[in-house]
Amino acid sequence: MTDLVIVRDADSIRTVRMNRPDKKNALTAPMYRAMARAIDTAAGDGIRCIVILGAPGAFCAGNDLHEFLAAAKAGMLDGDVVTFLHALARSPVPLVAGVQGDAVGIGTTLLLHCDYVVAGTDARFSTPFVRLGLVPEAGSSLLAPRLMGHRRAFAALVMGHGLDTAAALACGLVNVAVARDQVDARAIAAANEIVALPPEAVAASRRLMRGPVEHIVARIDEEVSLFGERLRSGEARAAFEAFVNRKR
Ligand code: COA
Repeated sequence: MTDLVIVRDADSIRTVRMNRPDKKNALTAPMYRAMARAIDTAAGDGIRCIVILGAPGAFCAGNDLHEFLAAAKAGMLDGDVVTFLHALARSPVPLVAGVQGDAVGIGTTLLLHCDYVVAGTDARFSTPFVRLGLVPEAGSSLLAPRLMGHRRAFAALVMGHGLDTAAALACGLVNVAVARDQVDARAIAAANEIVALPPEAVAASRRLMRGPVEHIVARIDEEVSLFGERLRSGEARAAFEAFVNRKR
């Protein structure tokens, strides 16, 4: 079976590539688990920068909606999702992302934890949580307003307005836009630039800039609790069933 997450190390850089292109890189529990492990073990493995990549045309379509439906029936969010969110927030290693195509839900909110983001000119970012009967996750209710201001964050996280690459650049979600076939190379180049810097100074600067990690983790946990309640709601279940049963 093809690996759904491909992890490779070279030159102190770990690339973590989501690899479920036939499902637009919708994330399943084993994928969250593999990504959390890749992030959690990086520092101990001598890694100095992690690069998160997707597939052509699909960075990540968010959580697998079949699994959300199962979670709605079980009445709780899968523990692997939470482990991944904590790993993202607690990563002592700088995170870079390269986004091609669609970045939906966690595909967009994970970028709020990244230190540098490269996007293809074809990228599309969306966070349709409320339309799905849910609430924002991954610390985005804290990090998105901090990054782009309350009103732009409200339009994205609550009203579900998508952003194209130009809008993502304008609000600071993305550092640089390149042709889509240049995204991975440009993200690796950024990682190389970071690992060439004095590592202790990078780590200390990053800690100062991010503020207390436990504030972010506490917000993630608060969101997870509400998210679990929303998953059990009729609104959410109806939205998941509509996607799963859609006719095309
Ligand atoms: N969960 C499960 N399967 C998903 C998925 C998801 N989040 N997103 C896409 N897929 C699957 C589709 O069901 C389809 O599978 P099929 O070929 O077996 O029917 C395949 O991926 C391709 O998706 P498709 O919708 O045909 O691609 P598209 O290019 O027209 O649209 C998206 C891409 C990402 C815009 C669209 O798939 C989408 O909106 N997905 C749902 C995103 C979402 O709401 N995520 C949760 C956020 S909290």
